[in-house]
Amino acid sequence: MVIKVFRDISELSQAAAKAFTELANQAIAKRGRFLVALSGGSTPMKLYERLANETPDWSRVHFFWGDERCVPVEDVGNSYGQAKKVLFDKIGATNIHRVRSELGPDSAARDYAHTLSQFADPPLDFPRFDLVLLGMGDDGHTASLFPDSPIDVTTPTLAVTAHYQDRPANRITLTPPVFNQAREVWFLVTSQSKAETLKNIIEGEFKPEVYPAQRIRPVGGNLIWMIDKAAGSLLKK
Ligand code: 6PG
Repeated sequence: MVIKVFRDISELSQAAAKAFTELANQAIAKRGRFLVALSGGSTPMKLYERLANETPDWSRVHFFWGDERCVPVEDVGNSYGQAKKVLFDKIGATNIHRVRSELGPDSAARDYAHTLSQFADPPLDFPRFDLVLLGMGDDGHTASLFPDSPIDVTTPTLAVTAHYQDRPANRITLTPPVFNQAREVWFLVTSQSKAETLKNIIEGEFKPEVYPAQRIRPVGGNLIWMIDKAAGSLLKK
């Protein structure tokens, strides 16, 4: 596990945009494509905006989501819709594999599992993502894996109902089996409000039922926490 501490979200987003391009260029050179699972929420939005100025071969970049809210794409709560505005429309993205949030939660979860299977890395029935972007709620959730949710999940996708801030409750999420096969996972975490939870997750006891972010332990991949000073203020230096 690597922890990178940045002055603020701006510096974090700039560095993350450069690292994204580097990773994309490497994956495209090696495997002819770059499969990335984006995160919803507010933290990654600055990164998505900055990516619009980056120039990897976007025609080889495939966009997925680690989770999605079951609201129409034009709804402000739809993560695909938010990324479309600040990134996809600017770079003319063509390989977008969104969760069909207009379907009911169960059919959307099944449909997304089918989408994943079309990019599968056998013997898996889903892809080994080259990069997974994740956020962390101040309750320790990540993607739409919430405290006290089932831990020993084997399916690649799951329909969940969760109440967090004023966000849409019905969601589809990828599950730890998928996240943990990724080649690289980045958590983007900023603000003082998350400092206590971040300390518990990184330095505290392993309690994945309480802190779902602890369920993310890439099997052979890299785990990088990109945080700002405020979020990291309680970590042992
Ligand atoms: C979502 C995300 C969710 C998010 C955290 C942090 O769809 O909302 O997947 O896990 O990353 O809730 O959200 P903020 O970045 O807005 O704090």
